[in-house]
Amino acid sequence: MATFAPMAQNEEIFKKIISHSKEYGFVFPSSEIYDGLSAVYDYGQNGVELKNNIRQYWWKSMVQYHENIVGLDAAIFMHPTTWKASGHIDAFSDPLIDNRDSKKRYRADVLVEDQMAKWQDKIDKEAEKAAKRFGETFDKDQFLATNGRVLEYKEKIESTTKRFYGAMERNDLADVKKLIEDLEIVCPVSGSRNWTDVRQFNLMFSTSMGSVSEDSNVIYLRPETAQGIFVNYLNVQKTGRMKIPFGIAQTGKAFRNEIVARQFIFRMREFEQMEMQYFVRPGTELEWFEYWKTERMKWHQSLGIPATKYRWHPHDKLAHYANAAIDIEFEFPIGFKELEGIHSRTDFDLKAHQEHSGKKIQYFDPELNENYVPYVIETSIGLDRTFLAVLSYAYTEEKLEDGSERVVLRLPSMLAPVKCAILPLVAKDGLPEKAREIMDTVKYDFMCQYEEKDSIGKRYRRHDAIGTPYCITVDHQTLEDNTVTIRDRDTMKQERIPIEKIGELVRLKIKG
Ligand code: GAP
Repeated sequence: MATFAPMAQNEEIFKKIISHSKEYGFVFPSSEIYDGLSAVYDYGQNGVELKNNIRQYWWKSMVQYHENIVGLDAAIFMHPTTWKASGHIDAFSDPLIDNRDSKKRYRADVLVEDQMAKWQDKIDKEAEKAAKRFGETFDKDQFLATNGRVLEYKEKIESTTKRFYGAMERNDLADVKKLIEDLEIVCPVSGSRNWTDVRQFNLMFSTSMGSVSEDSNVIYLRPETAQGIFVNYLNVQKTGRMKIPFGIAQTGKAFRNEIVARQFIFRMREFEQMEMQYFVRPGTELEWFEYWKTERMKWHQSLGIPATKYRWHPHDKLAHYANAAIDIEFEFPIGFKELEGIHSRTDFDLKAHQEHSGKKIQYFDPELNENYVPYVIETSIGLDRTFLAVLSYAYTEEKLEDGSERVVLRLPSMLAPVKCAILPLVAKDGLPEKAREIMDTVKYDFMCQYEEKDSIGKRYRRHDAIGTPYCITVDHQTLEDNTVTIRDRDTMKQERIPIEKIGELVRLKIKG
């Protein structure tokens, strides 16, 4: 596991990233002039570029670079039976509990998990203390396996996990409440143990379609994009003459009425997913599951982020439709958390839609000369979480040799919102006109920004802060010999190049 800075320091960095995002036009709280809307965010002028670039890179990697994967853009609204078939109406819920004194609502599983995290913390602290006491001779594994206090905490974690998941499996919500009482968990706001019963709360947002008096119909905002792919399986397979194995990819908004909605854009009520369903012959799904695990991890690392920032998290408990599932976790400043899920969803979804729609959803396999419902491997990644991963890794505070400081976003150049800034050294002497001329020749190839306000140093800092890989400065010499200086964001080194070289150099840098 990668080492990470103590919690307080990480929280500090997380706060800085949030305020940097706002200050530099990446992410704003939604409808901020009305004090915002909880867990909903807007992407500003630089955020939208970064987000588009991530989406485009994913799309290219999945659709353009795979001959047997095609795209789709299904509507957000779907026939309500979709969600009955998929199981979301009956089972897409969280167990909730209210504290009567603070009137705050919590997810029961989060309260229990937070309690277990406290015990785990205590184990880590015991180990830290012992390591200091014993120095070089300290054997951590042996200590964790034999120390009395550690074993006590471990036993508490194990028995609580067993009891909680057992109760959830039996849907015994009374026992979940009893567990919270037995563990003496208090409300973080009121400090009291005055809890209501635990209830299941469906996470889907609903609205009605048509005029309310006439053909009003409850309709849901999709909680995942995947179902749009499943219900279009036949359309795409037939019109695209797709042969198994093949995939359908889609990016788009999903909506969940998250109760623990905090942690900035990590957990939102309106967010974007990038999902791909890969249809395979039954019996081959676990091979394809391994294939997509490797492919997806390679994709993450192709962003230039070190492998130590990622780790696997196999699911302890599989969803009813899955026969294998694993998450790719990323080390956000708030710790290792889920970034992408890879699931072997069997034939559950297609079969369920077949049953509920009464339409045959099958594939005729010419090699086997038989019809079957394909099995599915799903790769499902959050676009906003990828944005947060890329941004938090890129955010760097640097002390420079001259004693000054700068904040630089070391974004992969291909994802940077602005690829190249065109800056006249001063806003006079014909330099702005020359700079505009250059801008007009390169702006059709990549995102450029022209800026003449403030000193050149300030303009460099502004572009460091949004991650612009190159700054082109037009000075008096430019007027004489058609050369400019080009400054590299990371090294801050400048070199003089002919104007006609700008396009080539920047293109090379942003190719990825
Ligand atoms: N179709 C499968 C599916 O939706 P999921 O694990 O619930 O699986 C997939 O979601 C990904 O969507 C997650 O790995 C995460 O990156 C992203 N995601 C889920 N809920 C989110 C939320 N409330 N806010 C932001 N991203 C979310």
